[in-house]
Amino acid sequence: MRKIKSFLLLLLAALALTGCVGQFEVGGEQEESAGTDEADLVVVGVSQVGSESVWRTANTVSIQKAFTNEKGYFLLFSNARQKQENQIKAIRRFISRQVDYIVFSPITETGWDVVLQEAKDAGIPVILMDRQVDVEDETLYTAWVGSDFHMEGENAGKWLEEYLAGQGRQEEEIRIVVLQGTEGATAAIGRTEGFQKVADAHENWVILEQVDAEYTTAKGREVMESLLDKYDEIDVVVSQNDDMTFGALDAMNRRGITTGVEGDVIVVSFDAVKAALKLVEQGVINVDIECNPNQGEWVEKLIQALERGEEVEKTFYIKEQIFTPENVGEYLDDREY
Ligand code: AHR
Repeated sequence: MRKIKSFLLLLLAALALTGCVGQFEVGGEQEESAGTDEADLVVVGVSQVGSESVWRTANTVSIQKAFTNEKGYFLLFSNARQKQENQIKAIRRFISRQVDYIVFSPITETGWDVVLQEAKDAGIPVILMDRQVDVEDETLYTAWVGSDFHMEGENAGKWLEEYLAGQGRQEEEIRIVVLQGTEGATAAIGRTEGFQKVADAHENWVILEQVDAEYTTAKGREVMESLLDKYDEIDVVVSQNDDMTFGALDAMNRRGITTGVEGDVIVVSFDAVKAALKLVEQGVINVDIECNPNQGEWVEKLIQALERGEEVEKTFYIKEQIFTPENVGEYLDDREY
């Protein structure tokens, strides 16, 4: 335990030296980093969902790169470990510390009215990142930066439509399972609805089941195993993030089921992290719908504008694309996460 603590302290010291962070929370304890002075800096409290996926880690890195002491910020970072109650506690701590801005990625859409009202009453602007909130009063937050999850789901459906048409399978029954992300999260809601919209136009597409696999590899594997136990024939796996896809691929491989371009099962994934793009290149995953985690720089630009007293757009969609074996080669080398 002592060894782990010393390692964490060293890590924190290293982060402080690089100017990446002012204060960091580890295991629920707050660890102050030495030598940082928040007096002349813009203090930003960030509540992150957790570290459930490769995407999430990349999103956290983008925040840490955007809010450095050198750029004039003092970052308070809190990892909620996938629990809404931890996010609410973190936001309340930020309010009592009178931070200049609160940035957070809400784990689910509902349950934020009270704490966001407290932030508003304290005069602290809230910027949502990645996921959205479902609140009565939209003035409880200043702006949102993230992905068009509905469009991502629809793009997955449209890609499948064209792929099956290319194989002459428009009339054939297509049996689909969907591994969904965290229930109630904007990413899961949007991707599910977007895909469903396209599926509804195809009587031959049968969605056998849609199951919450929490955006993690372990749960993706577990859920895929139970689906394979239940259904003899699955033609398509739609997995709402790459981490769940890794688990699902593992479950299928163990049973000798082949996937992808030459395989038995078509695999549609989301996020487009490097390890998954390599599998797209190898033809193991058929398509990866990008979800761009590099949102820190856009959140920071918003804060810059607010600091100048400017009005900002309420909604900012980040640019994303679709990766298939045909185009992935040109992007792979530059992928950092
Ligand atoms: O909200 C974005 C989603 O959350 C990403 O697809 C997933 O990987 C993450 O955990």
